[in-house]
Amino acid sequence: MNKAPIRVAVTGAAGQIGYSLLFRIASGAAFGPDQPVIIHLLERADEKVMAALQGVCMELEDCAFPLLKGLVPTSNPDEGFKGVNWALLVGAQPRGPGMERKDLLAANGKIFTGQGNAIAKNAAADVRVLVVGNPCNTNALIAANNAPGIPKERFFAMTALDENRAKSQLAKKASVDTTAVTNLAIWGNHSATMYPDFFNTKINGRLVPEVISHREWLEKDFISTVQQRGAAIIKARGLSSAASAANAAVDTVRKLVTPTPAGDWFSVAVHSDGSYGIEKGLIFSYPIRSNGKDFEIVQGVPLNDFSKAKIAATENELKEEKSLVADLIKK
Ligand code: NAD
Ligand code: LMR
Repeated sequence: MNKAPIRVAVTGAAGQIGYSLLFRIASGAAFGPDQPVIIHLLERADEKVMAALQGVCMELEDCAFPLLKGLVPTSNPDEGFKGVNWALLVGAQPRGPGMERKDLLAANGKIFTGQGNAIAKNAAADVRVLVVGNPCNTNALIAANNAPGIPKERFFAMTALDENRAKSQLAKKASVDTTAVTNLAIWGNHSATMYPDFFNTKINGRLVPEVISHREWLEKDFISTVQQRGAAIIKARGLSSAASAANAAVDTVRKLVTPTPAGDWFSVAVHSDGSYGIEKGLIFSYPIRSNGKDFEIVQGVPLNDFSKAKIAATENELKEEKSLVADLIKK
């Protein structure tokens, strides 16, 4: 039987990431090859931006995607989020060279109060929200706290790009295919303090430290390469990552709507329930498993002192970011 279309909102739809992401969604890469979609494209109310958005819609039409059942381009958040089952919040300013992602809070934080509210007012009862716009963990915290009535467990922030980066670095070092690398958790913030936990990651079923004996590389170069990869791309391209970010958003949705393979986990930042002693309510990246509908934070992952110190540092940064946006978070 043919499935009914779902509605998916993408904000910042005329931006860099939007230009990669929309076509992947329309092709079925995110929600599945048998799931029709109606895409709501939300942008700023700016004449030039809205004209560019019309161009993006023309290109989407020109692909004649079999699964694409409608386009709703708009600058009105109420229309943008009307009846949506998923909201992918990409629209936000990117950082430039020399900036940290949290430097964007002043410019971007307020976007997520209004959008949280508009989602609560307009979205479908089952809405799930993935925040990509930076700093994504704290923006997700703002959105979740401005969306009365929506369970906080429905808000996610993207750390899949970090997971993918980490998997590629490990695969290259061990001269294996990226598919050999499993159980890679990014802990904490999508920022320079994130912790890619190589101790519990596996390569062809064996723990990484058993496969890669170069411990100094793992503890220093590997971690800092992953932490600084976004900045390295900005330096090289003059623009922040876009196609790889869109790909990570597709991966995140796909992994949340598909049962996780037995024994594996993936990374996404979710509302902390206090697992691993993390402050409740922070949007914190954990090892996650999904049954295709609901997710769980994987419990019992062993953490040594090295890991605990890294996780404490990224938690502290998220607490600091939270305090910077206290006025945007409703109690
Ligand atoms: P971009 O500047 O190319 O596009 C952003 C778009 O958002 C623009 O078209 C802009 O008009 C739109 N926008 C701004 N405010 C809006 C609002 N209130 N409502 C709707 N649209 C709005 O930027 P980009 O390269 O697409 O990056 C977007 C965001 O994603 C940035 O904050 C960037 O730092 C972040 N990002 C996150 C990750 C991650 O891993 N979490 C990865 C890459 C980029
Ligand atoms: C990334 O990790 O590539 C994005 O968060 C963009 C950035 O600012 O680094």
